[in-house]
Amino acid sequence: MKYNLLKGKRGLIFGALNEKSIAWKVAERAYEEGAQVALTNTPVSMRLGNINELAKKLNTIVIPADATKIEDLENLVQKSMEHLGGQLDFVLHSIGMSPNVRKGKTYDDLDYAYLQQTLDISAISFHKMLQVCRKADAISRWGSVVALSYIAAQRTLYGYNDMADAKAMLESIARSFGYIYGREKRIRINTVSQSPTLTTAGSGIMGFDNLVDFADRMSPLGNADAEDCASYVITLFSDLTRKVTMQNLFHDGGYSSMGMSFRAMKVYNEGLEYRDVKDDKTKQQKEIES
Ligand SMILES: NC(=O)c1ccc[n+]([C@@H]2O[C@H](COP(=O)([O-])OP(=O)(O)OC[C@H]3O[C@@H](n4cnc5c(N)ncnc54)[C@H](O)[C@@H]3O)[C@@H](O)[C@H]2O)c1
Repeated sequence: MKYNLLKGKRGLIFGALNEKSIAWKVAERAYEEGAQVALTNTPVSMRLGNINELAKKLNTIVIPADATKIEDLENLVQKSMEHLGGQLDFVLHSIGMSPNVRKGKTYDDLDYAYLQQTLDISAISFHKMLQVCRKADAISRWGSVVALSYIAAQRTLYGYNDMADAKAMLESIARSFGYIYGREKRIRINTVSQSPTLTTAGSGIMGFDNLVDFADRMSPLGNADAEDCASYVITLFSDLTRKVTMQNLFHDGGYSSMGMSFRAMKVYNEGLEYRDVKDDKTKQQKEIES
């Protein structure tokens, strides 16, 4: 259903890789709600995915940028303002990648050069984006910035690896920059902590299917999918949430407040067939035996 919540607003959306991406759904919903959006992703992701199709559909452009590179971000912010015809009213940071996760390095055997990349891509890029926007005065008064997070920032979830550290840092940046940008220009900055969602980034996490199933059984409302997430983010971009800032907002069907649910407990009663990623099996067996 359309509500015209973003009528006349301009936004910049990072991280739409393909139609499964959360950013893709947010861009579609923002357009549907009356906003004009500019899209961005890395040149490699632009080739690997199909962001150009989304741009066509939303009658807009894709500006290539690696969110870890200041020069790219400066160019992106200028070009998006030129294309949209003014300051940005909202920005979505929907970026995450861990080379340690990709290469199967476990948390007790991290490659530290990879860790630096995980933090740079998944968290520090948020700071870089905010700092570049502020220096260029690119976000309008009462603008809204959202980054996507995950509950692994607060709780330990098997297999989430160094992305947990990146998410903790991401949420902290939202608070620290939220203070500065809020005090100066009433710009609000929040993170949305989303249910596990079937996307390219999500599927890279060890045991992801089990995690999705477990979270769904634990959540009274069931997991929130990418479309649900997009609808929630739209409310945060709208003028209806002008006094919400520096928050990490759980969007997870109730998961974050649960301890144990009947549906999850039932699985244990029936017995779980144990399945795990091959590489980590020996280590897991030792943990069970100890
Ligand atoms: N899928 C989930 O289960 C889940 C749950 C909670 C939060 N999130 C978060 O949602 C966000 C979006 O992920 P998604 O699930 O839609 O997956 P996705 O793979 O579709 O999106 C990740 C995006 O990050 C982009 N990216 C990677 N490195 C980049 C760089 N250097 N510069 C610019 N962009 C870069 C990728 O090109 C891709 O578009 C991430 O922050 C992710 O951690 C995902």
